Amino acid sequence: MRRLGRFRYLDVPPVGQSRPAGTLVFIHGFPLNPSMWDPQLVFAGHGWRLIVPELRGFGDGAGDPPTTSIDDYAGDTIDLLDQLHVESAVICGLSMGGYIVFSMFRHAPTYFRAMVLADTRSEGDTPEAVTGRKNMQQLVRDKGPAAIADALLPKLVGDSTRRERPAVIEQVRTQITGNSAESIAGALTALMTRPDSTPTLSTIRCPVQIIVGDEDLITPPPLSEQMHREIPGSGLMVIKGAGHMSNMEQPTLFNDTLARFLEHRV
Ligand code: MLT
Repeated sequence: MRRLGRFRYLDVPPVGQSRPAGTLVFIHGFPLNPSMWDPQLVFAGHGWRLIVPELRGFGDGAGDPPTTSIDDYAGDTIDLLDQLHVESAVICGLSMGGYIVFSMFRHAPTYFRAMVLADTRSEGDTPEAVTGRKNMQQLVRDKGPAAIADALLPKLVGDSTRRERPAVIEQVRTQITGNSAESIAGALTALMTRPDSTPTLSTIRCPVQIIVGDEDLITPPPLSEQMHREIPGSGLMVIKGAGHMSNMEQPTLFNDTLARFLEHRV
C-alpha cells in the first residue's frame, strides 16, 4: 500500500505494453478494503495502470479524519487522482463504490473516460434502510466488526459461492474484520445520508458498463436494469452464479465483461 499525505492506495503500473492503455480506478464497497479488487489486478497485464484507494478510515485509517458523507470518499478520491496527475480514468465502483462514483461524477465529470457500476443502485436509503443502518451502528459499537461480518455475510455472497467456493466467504470476512468499529460506523452514516443519484443517470455521457450478479440480494438485478434504461448507451451484464460480490465470486466472467468493455467501448 502506498501513502501520499493522508491517502493510502495501491498503484500498479501497466506491464508488457509499449503504449499504456490508461488508468483504471477501482473503488471498494462497504465494509471492505482494496483487496476485494485482487482478482482485477490482472488488468495491469493488459496495459492499464491500476489505482485502488483505501477509503478514509478503512484498514490502516486510525488517523484519518472522520467520515460524514459519501462526498468525503468522493472528494478524497478526486484529490488523490489530482495529486497523482491523473486527468481522466475508467472509474469502477462496486456497491458503495458505485455511490461514490455517482458523487465523483456530479463533482468532477471531466475525470471520467468511462464508468463501471457493479452491484450498485442509484436510489438513496428508504426509511426502513436507515433504521437498519442505525441498528448496525449500534451492533458494531457494542460487538465490533466480527458481528457485522456475521450479519452481512449471508447477504454479501450468493448461494452458488457458498456451495462451490466457500474460500471467498473467508476472504470477505477477513476484509470486514480488518476494519475498525469507528470506520464502519462512519461509513454507515455516509450510506444512510447519501442522496438519490437517480437524477444523475440521464446526465452521464461517458461509456458505461453495468454489472450485477444474478444472485445479488443487496442490489438485485432489476435495479441494474433500471439504471441501464436511464443511462444513455450503457451496457448491462448479469453474471451467472454471483451474489453481491460479483468481481470476487465470478472473477473470470467479471473480467471478461470488463475486458470487452475496455476493448470495444473505451
Ligand atoms: C456495499 O457492498 O458497499 C454495501 O452493501 C452497500 C449498501 O449497504 O448499501
